[in-house]
Amino acid sequence: MSFARYPSLQDRVVFITGGGSGIGAAMVEAFALQRANVAFVDILEAESHALVDRLRHAGNPPLFIRCDLTELSALEAAMQEVRERLGPIQVLVNNAANDWRHEADEVTEEFWDRTLAINLKHQFFAAQAARRQMRERGGGSIINFSSIAWMGGAPRLSVYATAKAGVVGLTNSLAREFGSDNIRVNAIAPGAVVTERQRKLWLSESDVKAFVSRQCIGRVLVAEDVARLALFLGADDSAMISKQCLVIDGGLR
Ligand SMILES: NC(=O)c1ccc[n+]([C@@H]2O[C@H](COP(=O)([O-])OP(=O)(O)OC[C@H]3O[C@@H](n4cnc5c(N)ncnc54)[C@H](O)[C@@H]3O)[C@@H](O)[C@H]2O)c1
Repeated sequence: MSFARYPSLQDRVVFITGGGSGIGAAMVEAFALQRANVAFVDILEAESHALVDRLRHAGNPPLFIRCDLTELSALEAAMQEVRERLGPIQVLVNNAANDWRHEADEVTEEFWDRTLAINLKHQFFAAQAARRQMRERGGGSIINFSSIAWMGGAPRLSVYATAKAGVVGLTNSLAREFGSDNIRVNAIAPGAVVTERQRKLWLSESDVKAFVSRQCIGRVLVAEDVARLALFLGADDSAMISKQCLVIDGGLR
């Protein structure tokens, strides 16, 4: 297979949350290889530094800022730092999340709040802060991460699924409100993306096979597949796409 190059992404300032591992890391790499100016935040320091090190010869090596997104003041400060060091953010990728499994019977108020804080709340506040910077550049693209988990009714994920459904509502509403600033807002809803973490925590080899057998396209869905969709949404090639939730799941049923 061979893939697109996007001239419009060259030197574009891209801010990716949760870029230290998984799909986020694949997006950091994909945007960096398009010669975008990528900044990313994460709580995983060793993984993030290793990623920066690996990409040090990319056109524009990425900038890592350690930031716990559940602290909104830290998120605001990180985005301001990006503004000062790289220029106004033009593409925001709201990727960070945590899909810890939970039985509904065991959910406490504290767990509910923490789960919404890492899977929904920061997406709104990052978008709010990004809009101010995108206005300076005459527009931008916001890519929020949802999931197919809420569509099919995934068990042991009720709070996560609530947040991920909320992401679509947030996306639609912000798309309408930010459109007047030429800012597009879309969501990506991945299916079963087999990352290292998913394999370690949740997916056995037979689970992976079961997912693939339920897809129309009979191969494993990987982080790089999702990253290529994010590239398209960040580039001018998708200039008239806004208020969409794009499912990427190999045609899972
Ligand atoms: N992997 C899948 O199959 C799948 C399926 C559907 C949706 N998604 C969504 O795609 C996105 C990426 O998925 P993934 O599998 O790579 O997720 P992941 O959990 O492996 O990675 C998320 C990243 O966010 C970071 N993060 C977590 N808490 C943080 C915090 N408080 N502050 C800063 N960073 C924090 C993590 O360290 C990690 O690097 C997520 O939004 C996820 O919900 C993934």
